[in-house]
Amino acid sequence: MTQQNASATDVELEIQDLSHDGRGIGRLDGRVVFVDGALPGDRVSVRLLPERRRQLHADLRRILQPSPQRRRPPCILADHCGGCSLQPLSDEGQQQWKQRSLEQSLQRIAGLSPEVLPLLVSERPLGYRNRAVIPLERSEDGHLKAGYYRRGSHRIVNMNRCPVLDPRIDALIAPLKRDLETSDWPVDRHGLSEGGLKHLALRVGHHTGEVLITLIASHQDFDGLEVLAQSWLERWPEVVGVSLNLQPRPTNQLFGPNTYTIAGRGWLSESFAGLKYHIAADTFFQVHTTQAERLVPLMLEGLGGSQDAGPSSDLLLDAFCGIGTFSLPLAAAGWRVHGIEQHPSAVELARLNAAANNLGERATFEIAAVATALPALLDSAEALLLDPPRKGLEPHVMAAILATPPRRLLYLSCDPATLSRDLGLLCAEVYTPRSVTPIDFFPNTSHIEALAVLERRS
Ligand SMILES: C[S@@+](CC[C@H](N)C(=O)[O-])C[C@H]1O[C@@H](n2cnc3c(N)ncnc32)[C@H](O)[C@@H]1O
Repeated sequence: MTQQNASATDVELEIQDLSHDGRGIGRLDGRVVFVDGALPGDRVSVRLLPERRRQLHADLRRILQPSPQRRRPPCILADHCGGCSLQPLSDEGQQQWKQRSLEQSLQRIAGLSPEVLPLLVSERPLGYRNRAVIPLERSEDGHLKAGYYRRGSHRIVNMNRCPVLDPRIDALIAPLKRDLETSDWPVDRHGLSEGGLKHLALRVGHHTGEVLITLIASHQDFDGLEVLAQSWLERWPEVVGVSLNLQPRPTNQLFGPNTYTIAGRGWLSESFAGLKYHIAADTFFQVHTTQAERLVPLMLEGLGGSQDAGPSSDLLLDAFCGIGTFSLPLAAAGWRVHGIEQHPSAVELARLNAAANNLGERATFEIAAVATALPALLDSAEALLLDPPRKGLEPHVMAAILATPPRRLLYLSCDPATLSRDLGLLCAEVYTPRSVTPIDFFPNTSHIEALAVLERRS
């Protein structure tokens, strides 16, 4: 089927599967058709769209026979908002798909069939996200809109609530929107005029309840900002700080390099795996705190257990370590940990967090790109923890690990495709996969987190 003969009439499809980003997959004349909003088990009527990059896509017109796993989505905006594409699928349906999807990806991309343990199900499918970065926009009539993008577009779906957010930050969206609307400050997310507000960021410490509010903007000229920020601290005792982050460039990177504390403090305190942490507004922290905590014993098991803490204990390299989220609990279990992270303020916090937990001697950190720092360290390491961004490992990093492989390797990933690609290379000759555990970090979305445990063959 080509662009010229794409039919304007509707066709019927049986939806058989979901794509990695949560779109329904059906078949027409043997070809795969992607349908937004359709679920496996649905019989649907669709209208084909012009072919894009040799792929067929179709608009969902009508659900003729709903899948037995289809349900009324918990969020009233689910049909429009691109934030959580799996909301219409039952919790069990989502969990089964995540498990199957990871297994298929490992098999298809890497030819691997390791033991994939049962998905660690989240206790709460809603109210779990400890952080939100919400795009802002002013409509032509002056109203402030805040919300995520409509699927496949940069148009905002205006919202006052987001049920996957921790209720303590969810409750702030509507009143903050009202205050920002009344402030009359310019909003200019795309840098099209003189600049202004771009995003509203909220973060909560799951165990402490402390909240940070951050405005991301292209400049800092907002009349009355200090007064308004102070009023938020007085109105909501759980809010410990209000900051302004400057992102002058039109880029996909939400946060710019400079953050200024306007009222209160620039960090919140949190406890994680029984340790104390400071977390800033603009540093990475796992968005589902309790699920991330469940990884610590799994990691320790994969490493062969705790160690007798001491100067001769084994060295674990934590590549892409952030603020030391996992470095510190593993150091507390006796490992000597060295973290590598390129974000300077994350490393500053990692060091501070290590000192606050009396782990400064067992957990050290350096500011560096993993590709630069890791190769020279591998020789002395017994174990390596990798937690890269979605794109996975750079070829240079992969080559260094294969040349000097530490005995144990843990790979935490938020993208089954790049995880599979990288495990395929690591396990071709050097490592044996011991287990892969999928963890539901992001219920109601199509994102899948997984921890792989590998052991060197000799
Ligand atoms: C998925 S996060 C994991 C952070 C940490 N392990 C945690 O669980 O909180 C990836 C981290 O890698 C950092 N990063 C991304 N690319 C990097 C690179 N090439 N070298 C060093 N750090 C990098 C990011 O700043 C981010 O903190």
